[in-house]
Order: sequence, then structure tokens, then C-alpha cells
Amino acid sequence: MRILSGVQPTGTLHLGNYFGAIQQHIELQNAAARAEDAFYFVANLHTLTTVHDATQLRALTRDVAIDYLTLGLDPDKATFFRQSDVPEVCELTWLLSCCVGKGLLERATSYKDKVARGLEATMGLFTYPVLMAADLLIYKSTLVPVGKDQQQHVEMAQDMAASFNSAFKRDVFVRPEWRFSKAPVVPGTDGGKMSKSYGNTIPIFVPDGMTEKQVFKAYFAGIKTDSKGVEEPKDPNDALMTLYRLLDPVKAEEFEPVYTRGGVGYGDIKKRLHAAYAERFQALSEKRRAIAADESLVEGVLERGAERARAVAREVMAEARDAAGIVVARSTHTPIR
Ligand code: TRP
Repeated sequence: MRILSGVQPTGTLHLGNYFGAIQQHIELQNAAARAEDAFYFVANLHTLTTVHDATQLRALTRDVAIDYLTLGLDPDKATFFRQSDVPEVCELTWLLSCCVGKGLLERATSYKDKVARGLEATMGLFTYPVLMAADLLIYKSTLVPVGKDQQQHVEMAQDMAASFNSAFKRDVFVRPEWRFSKAPVVPGTDGGKMSKSYGNTIPIFVPDGMTEKQVFKAYFAGIKTDSKGVEEPKDPNDALMTLYRLLDPVKAEEFEPVYTRGGVGYGDIKKRLHAAYAERFQALSEKRRAIAADESLVEGVLERGAERARAVAREVMAEARDAAGIVVARSTHTPIR
């Protein structure tokens, strides 16, 4: 078994990322018997399809790594690395590109959506699913925890694995399976799905130096509600209650009957939400600062992870090259250490 997932460093991580993905990644590391069974990486090469600013990409890559470590990723239980530290993944992208029809990639909804939203249709954006297939296949991953938006990409990787194996008549790649997380939709501050592209996010970690009052005002006070008065019964499945259940399931369950009966206002539950959020995430801000301040800690974790990941990737890449008849000089492919 190998669990694998990647997270794009596209911006400040928010509660949608946490409850939709990160929380599950961290839980799965505890289920894995060995660090080799759970691979997580920062997909910085994928982010090059949208971010063209070196300073920003470096900072975003590092920030995601710091966030994961703060939230409980344990480098002894999981292999955590930067995608770009395993250059073999780009080489495999080419081999797979030669086995995948252009038509399959043209059907990718995520590509079509991004172009419709005004992103430039670069070759990188177009072949994004091939790079992602390489991510999955090069580590022979079997289980891929992702959000619903990534299901099609994983299915494309299944197709590419089968195409490669049948083209070269050798079972080099194993079929990866997707798996959805338990918390399907995290509501944003406007009541719709929380997403960076809708500008309705609550960050996991607030910017340094914000006061409690500023945090409340920026992320909780404005959560959209209807105009029900204090005494009126409220909807137990509205955005506020849904967020409360995610942030503090125990307190939310106690509170729900009161909420549905009426007698508490929206202002009250917003304060509760803020308190639950502070207890859960703001309480970690000290830890986050300490991790961020320790340059060599973060880099050390990523390096160790890259070594483990690369050891697997080199072997699988050697198998793939051999199957395809790509010859390389021994001297340029000696083991790293
Ligand atoms: N495409 C994924 C996303 O945007 C990120 C990603 C890249 C990924 N490679 C992956 C996810 C491999 C899972 C497995 O969320």
C-alpha cells in the first residue's frame, strides 16, 4: 500500500483545505505502518502553471511546508517532500506524454475551467494531468486522498498507466485509486463552497500581528446569514452551524438544539465560532512561528523526505526507461548517496 497526495502552494491555506484534505492526510499518516506508506508533497511544479514570480513561489512553497508541520505532519510517520526534489517525475511526464492521446487531455474539466476563467492556455496547463499522473505512478501509489475536483485527474492517471503498460507490454505501473475525504463541502463566508477563487476563505493561520478583534471582524462577523431575529428557530445546516461542527464537534452538538429552537442570535454563534477557531488554530501560532524561524528544520524534513521519495522514483523510472528502450549512461545515473 502507498498513500500519496500533493498540495499545490497556490496561496494561504484555508479551512477548506484543512477539512477537505490536510486533516485527512495527517490522520492517514497515523494509519500507515511505516513512513514509506504515506507520501505527501508540495506540488510546486504544478503551481508554475499559475504563478510566475520566483520570490512568491519560493515563499508559498515554504509556507505550505511550515503549515503541514505545524498541523501535525510527522516526518517519522510520513514521507514529506517537495515535488521538484525528484526530477525523475519530469522525465516520466515525457514518457507518459508519448502514450496519452491529446483528446483525453482536451476532456479535462479542470483545464477547460481554468481557461474559461481567463488563464493562459499554456502547454503546462494543458499537460498538467500528465505531470500529476507521473506523480502518482512514479511512486507506485495505490491510494490517493483528494477532493472531488481531482477525481478526473486520478482517472486519467489510471488510463495513462494502462496505456503505458500495454504499449510497452510490461506491467511497470500500478493503478492508483482515488478516495474522497469525509468533509465534502466546507462553507465559506458567503455561504458557498470555501475556495480561494471565490474570495470567501478563512485562513488556517491568520497573518502575524492581527488582534482578536481584527480576526473576528475580518473572518467571522461578516459570515452571510438570513435576517432571522434572535427568537426565531435557525437552520441547523446553515454555514455557521456547519463550520461550528467542523471546528468543535462536541460543543456544536450541545449547541444545536438551542440554535434550532430559537433564542440565540447569529452574533452569538459567530462569537462561538471565533472562539472554537482560536482554540484550535490560533493556539498553534506560537508553534508555527517557532517552526518558521528554524530554517534548517523545515529544509531538513524536506530533504529527508526527498531522499526517501527519490529512492523509490529512481527505481521505478529505471523500470520505465527499460520498458521503453531508453538507454542512459551509467555514469550519469549513479546512486545519489
Ligand atoms: N492537482 C492537485 C490539486 O490541485 C495537486 C496535485 C498535484 C496532486 N499532484 C498530485 C494531488 C498528486 C494528488 C496527487 O489539488
